[in-house]
Amino acid sequence: MALVSLRTLLDAAQQGKYAVGAFNCNNMEIVQAIVAAAEETRSPVILQASQGAIKYAGLEYIVGMVKTAAQKATVPICLHLDHGTDFNTVVACIRAGFTSVMFDGSQYEKEENIARTREVVKIAHAVGVSVEGEIGKIGGVEDDIAVDERDAMLTPVPDAIEFYEATGVDALAMSFGTAHGPYKLPPKLALDRIAAVHEQTGAYLVMHGGSGVPAEDVKKGIELGIRKINIDTELRQAFLGEVRRQLAEKPDEIDPRKIFAPARDVLKEHIKAKMALFGSVGKA
Ligand code: G3H
Ligand code: 13P
Ligand code: ZN
Repeated sequence: MALVSLRTLLDAAQQGKYAVGAFNCNNMEIVQAIVAAAEETRSPVILQASQGAIKYAGLEYIVGMVKTAAQKATVPICLHLDHGTDFNTVVACIRAGFTSVMFDGSQYEKEENIARTREVVKIAHAVGVSVEGEIGKIGGVEDDIAVDERDAMLTPVPDAIEFYEATGVDALAMSFGTAHGPYKLPPKLALDRIAAVHEQTGAYLVMHGGSGVPAEDVKKGIELGIRKINIDTELRQAFLGEVRRQLAEKPDEIDPRKIFAPARDVLKEHIKAKMALFGSVGKA
């Protein structure tokens, strides 16, 4: 199948009241694990590449791998730029064949973020590419901040609504209590904010920092309007955990395939479980 836009996948997710997993990919084994999980569960899926992934693998390689996987697949696949902070990279991804881009203007004041995001929306929509925007800052768990400071960082509902309506983004990332990286303590989600923004605008909300969020909170979030869930850290842990286990078991092994093939299988099973939790199984 040809790659599909984020809007296409999330319109269907809204209809069916589920969320689509957005899994970060950096190399061939990860791409294959994500697509195999989607095929085996008949699940729509988003493969996303960060600017770091593009720097690591190369833009042409990312597009080449994901397009090849999609052509062979029988489930709908979207190729999305994760946290694009650089305008030139965003445009390069659109030109290279991405079907969705995130413009992350969260480093700017609200008005400038709106202006820059609108510019990306204008360009991307002209060629049928979807856009995710971010209002408020989704931090990392490594950012050492106290709980009350973290609360103060949550995106105010009026800001989220203003940003969504002024930019015309297809999906909205806002800060509601999740963070990137492994949590030290389970996160406390501001579910009321998710509900308020979704109810008042119909916006498809994105859960960043989806790794380690308790299953019950994931389900509640989906009920309230989360339609895209980003997972990276858990993929890293699953894949490298098995690489470490294999290396310990076979210290003399010199064929990387003997190490990476089982790690790819473990990763695939992990992703299948996430798809089941998100409710996207059987929706392709
Ligand atoms: O949100 C960030 C993603 O986990 C990507 O991380 O920039 O190290 O590729 P990265
Ligand atoms: P985690 O690494 O915490 O799963 O977050 C992924 C993410 O939000 C990518 O944008
Ligand atoms: Zn993120």
